[in-house]
Order: sequence, then C-alpha cells, then structure tokens
Amino acid sequence: MPMGKEELMKKLEEKIRNCRKCPLGKLRTNAVPGAGSYDAKVMFVGEAPGYWEDQKGLPFVGRAGKVLDELLAEIGLSRDEVYITNIVKCRPPENRDPTEEEIKACAPYLDRQIDIIRPKVIVPLGRHSMKYILEKFGFKAEPISKIHGKTFEARTLFGRIVIMPMYHPAAALYRPPIKEELRKDFQKLKELLSSAL
Ligand code: URA
Repeated sequence: MPMGKEELMKKLEEKIRNCRKCPLGKLRTNAVPGAGSYDAKVMFVGEAPGYWEDQKGLPFVGRAGKVLDELLAEIGLSRDEVYITNIVKCRPPENRDPTEEEIKACAPYLDRQIDIIRPKVIVPLGRHSMKYILEKFGFKAEPISKIHGKTFEARTLFGRIVIMPMYHPAAALYRPPIKEELRKDFQKLKELLSSAL
C-alpha cells in the first residue's frame, strides 16, 4: 500500500532533524522541520529559525511568532489548521540572512513538503521566501513592498496553487505601518480562503 501523507511527512521531518547537508547542521540545537496540519489548505513559509525556534524545534515561537498568531487569530485561523515552515530549517548564526548555498541545500525539503501537503495557497513571509517560491513557480521576484498581498496563480501536477507573498512578521515588530499592511493582507487571505479554491 502506498504511504499516506502522515507517514511521508513524519519520515521527511525525521530526515530534516538529522540533516547535515550544510554547515548550519553542526551549529544548530534543533532543526525546525515545520508544524501544523498535513492537510492544510494554506502553508506559511518563513525565512529560518531564530533563537527560540532553535531551542524548541518549532517554527515561529518567538516574538515574530506572536505577531503571526495574532494575525491568524484575526482571521479566525489557528495553528493546527495551517502548516508553518521555513525555507531554511536550521538557525543561521546570530540570525543572519541565509546564504544562497544554504537555501540551495535546504530548499528540496520545502519542495517535498509542498508536494506532500499539496496546499491550495502558499504565503511566503519576507523577501527570501518570496524570491524562492515565486521563482520556483516561474514568476519573477520583485520588491516585497511592491507585491505583498498580490496573488500569483501557478499550475502544478496536483492542481492550482495561489501564492500570496507578505511582509515578514518580524518586520512588524517595530514598524506599525507594516503591521497594518500585514493585517490588510491577512484579510485578503481570508477572502481567498473562503472563495472556491
Ligand atoms: N523567523 C522566521 O522566519 N522563521 C521562524 O521560524 C522564526 C522567525
């Protein structure tokens, strides 16, 4: 019998937890595969784990995570209904930006997560994730200030995926106008999720 989603995801998460494909593997406390529903309609893709994520092995559990929880709650979603992951699964030292090499080494895990979960909507959070996801589906990356909240429709072997890039929630921590933009974009996401996808 073919393996179900749950089994495939558990195996993949185990592989990520033991990964040594790039130097971040030696520096991390815990790899952070992702968390949430394997049947999620919407997948959020952040950049990379920070201090608390590395400590706990879970995505978005620090201050940016609180912003994300608030935004989800505003549109009536909880973490168990969505899937949350990152483009890079191990923490870069001092939370620096992930390098091209680290993204290249790690992104096949994200590709596989998308193939298994088959979300209807992908929300890249921040410019690194936006660039990777848009280019993966054949679109051109543009400044996040220009394209946040816009939709890009991609065809895949398992059907249509809508991509809606947004600002990274960490950017909202000290910049109230960005928080407002995120709030508006989450309302757009709510409308999208309630339409026939
Ligand atoms: N920032 C991210 O991009 N991802 C996390 O998991 C936490 C903070």
